[in-house]
Amino acid sequence: MLDQNTNRPELPSEIARRRTFAIISHPDAGKTTLTEKFLLFGGAIQMAGQVRAKGEARRTRSDFMQMEKDRGISVSASAMSFDFAKYRYNLVDTPGHSDFSEDTYRTLTAVDAAIMVIDGAKGVESQTRKLFEVCRLRDLPILTFCNKMDRESRDTFDIIDEIQQNLAIDVTPASWPIGVGSDFLGCYDLINDRLELMDRADRNKRGESVVLNGLDDPLMEKHIPAAQLEQLREEVAMARELLPALDPQSVLEGHLSPIWFGSAINSFGVKELMEGIAAYAPQPQILRAESRQVAPEESKVTGFVFKVQANMDPKHRDRVAFVRLASGHFERGMKLLHVRSKKQMAVANPVLFLAADREVTEEAWAGDIIGIPNHGQLRIGDALTEGEALRFTGIPSFAPELLQACRAGDPLKAKHLDKALLQFAEEGAAKVFKPAFGSGFVVGVVGQLQFEVLASRIEMEYGLPVRFEPSQFTSARWVQGSQAAVDAFAAANKQHMATDSDGDPVFMTRLQWDIDRVARDYPDVKLTATKEML
Ligand code: G4P
Repeated sequence: MLDQNTNRPELPSEIARRRTFAIISHPDAGKTTLTEKFLLFGGAIQMAGQVRAKGEARRTRSDFMQMEKDRGISVSASAMSFDFAKYRYNLVDTPGHSDFSEDTYRTLTAVDAAIMVIDGAKGVESQTRKLFEVCRLRDLPILTFCNKMDRESRDTFDIIDEIQQNLAIDVTPASWPIGVGSDFLGCYDLINDRLELMDRADRNKRGESVVLNGLDDPLMEKHIPAAQLEQLREEVAMARELLPALDPQSVLEGHLSPIWFGSAINSFGVKELMEGIAAYAPQPQILRAESRQVAPEESKVTGFVFKVQANMDPKHRDRVAFVRLASGHFERGMKLLHVRSKKQMAVANPVLFLAADREVTEEAWAGDIIGIPNHGQLRIGDALTEGEALRFTGIPSFAPELLQACRAGDPLKAKHLDKALLQFAEEGAAKVFKPAFGSGFVVGVVGQLQFEVLASRIEMEYGLPVRFEPSQFTSARWVQGSQAAVDAFAAANKQHMATDSDGDPVFMTRLQWDIDRVARDYPDVKLTATKEML
């Protein structure tokens, strides 16, 4: 049998019920609040506020986390799983701050869809736009949630129009708001012909839901004042005429985004959004690999590491590699081939992230995100399989835009600094370059804030005070070409050469002129700003 939405063979039910997604938004739009409500409805937490409360408890443990709190940003991404109705939702959290875009990009390689949360008063903001562009590169289906409708917000048509113009994607309303600000009553659910009323009295309770026989159902008059009802009917008629219909295939192809209106803090619109994710976000997708594509229904387990987080628990000094399972049915204790090292790995304690807690899991399916505690063997981009030498493609490493020299505050401890920096490089938190000449390291990041985070983490996790200082270089490029060409190039440009944490050759300079010169004088080598992680 073929799946109607995807024209693919029907997936085993355990896989078909999975939805793996991320939330993209500008800071303050309501991502945390929405996540909390997802978990609340998913039964993963008993009371909204726990995610934050647990976060607080965690944060007080360290300066680094303190810094995260002070700045109101979320530095580290994590994954959460919860069930709702018959579906399993895997939510991969993305750091919201633009300085962490590389991490975010990689996170988006592990999901099948994105939920774009916008603030109804502010519309599409800068960070939303950037993240949206990343989703577009991967043709990810995008569902939109317009939040904070309990406050004064923009006209509904204006919001939809802004998204369409600004992001060049078609938008179709899945629900339609009734009134704004203090007059906001709820939404008309255009998919299910239901009237959803917001309960302002209890923020954690869903409001009343009234099943209707279309917009002309006389029951409407019982719930909505005449003037608002007339406006609703007019607007919906206009929307149906002017805006595209909700075509599931267009959503899956990333051309059309259904939009729900709601108020996360009031738990309003959240359930409809969850139902929407189940209905319109895709099942686990086919993933690209070398030398073939990997389909989720394949019986053998495969997966790839998209994030490594070290020292999640300061007491244990462990690292957790976040693995997106691409295919198969994984069972605890399974031996998997770690393709890069060609070694077998027994995965004895895989972790599933239920809300804010980590729990050892007995099994997982294609689409799930599992955490594998390890001592540094697993790196971003690594593949795990039941024997096949696969390599998942499209997990990029970007050339850093900012470079600084890193020095230990205490010269006697300089050796320990090597270890700390290499670990952060493996985690993907920074690029670390060892120049061919001179001592010390040059550290490269995408955003300035990452230097502060690194300094703070090195001090906290390794007890090493460090200084970041201006480096003589401002750009780094990977050098690619045949071994002989790269060797000849390196010999002639020694003062510019360094190696990255994988030992790959890197050309460093202050001048764009130098980069242009290489292109002109060395046709056999190529300087690149991205490297695919192996
Ligand atoms: P973020 O993760 O996207 O940065 O946003 P977050 O959920 O932290 O929400 C940002 C602010 O917006 C919070 O207020 C939150 O309570 C508020 N908020 C979220 N959803 C809604 C909504 O539907 N309506 C209204 N009116 N506000 C909403 P805060 O004052 O910054 O934090 P807090 O003191 O409430 O925790």
